[in-house]
Amino acid sequence: MILSPSILAADFGILAEQIKQVERGGAKWLHIDVMDGHFVKNISFAMPVIKSIRKYTDLFFDVHLMIDDPGDYIDAVIDSGADGVTFHIEAVDDPYPCIEKIKRRGKQAGLSVSPDTPVEAVLPYINDVDMVLAMTVYPGLGGQKYMTRVNDKIRALRRAAGENFLIQVDGGVTKENIDSVLAAGANVIVAGTCVFTGDIERNIKDLSR
Ligand code: DX5
Ligand code: ZN
Repeated sequence: MILSPSILAADFGILAEQIKQVERGGAKWLHIDVMDGHFVKNISFAMPVIKSIRKYTDLFFDVHLMIDDPGDYIDAVIDSGADGVTFHIEAVDDPYPCIEKIKRRGKQAGLSVSPDTPVEAVLPYINDVDMVLAMTVYPGLGGQKYMTRVNDKIRALRRAAGENFLIQVDGGVTKENIDSVLAAGANVIVAGTCVFTGDIERNIKDLSR
């Protein structure tokens, strides 16, 4: 499995230091949540922060765009240091222009699906993206409870995509439920609250399988 700690739950006053702790814990990815106040109610951060932390780490920057018109920002996010860019199927009429933009830059393309959107919305595109992100909370806030009903969607994705495809799960993962999330078929696990509350290195070790 790949663990992708979500810095939404980090202490931004000491962000670089906390990212070093993520590295020491052994994680290889960093999940970076970009929110615009339109696609989701919340606003987080974007290019200047990504660019700043890029100087301090070689971790894989897994950028999750929770924004309208994602295609307008893909180049800027990649210029800031993204290694992978995931956008929402609900934010676009046709995902292909965004997929092509990401791939043309040689980056990993991810397609995200919110809890209430049926799996059928993303199945037609699984051969054209590198990863599907199944949201297990409503996008917009950290610290919410994992929606177990999304496990059916994860199982359907795994059946359709085969065993090596990247299926990411984001929202509400804890030390208690991570094994059932993996059993459903996820292999890329985002964790925010559960990594950044308390001892970051220890938490990452406890979550790693
Ligand atoms: C929610 C974000 C998540 C969030 C996860 O909209 O996409 O990445 O940071 O946080 P936890 O692990 O606290 O649910
Ligand atoms: Zn996220």
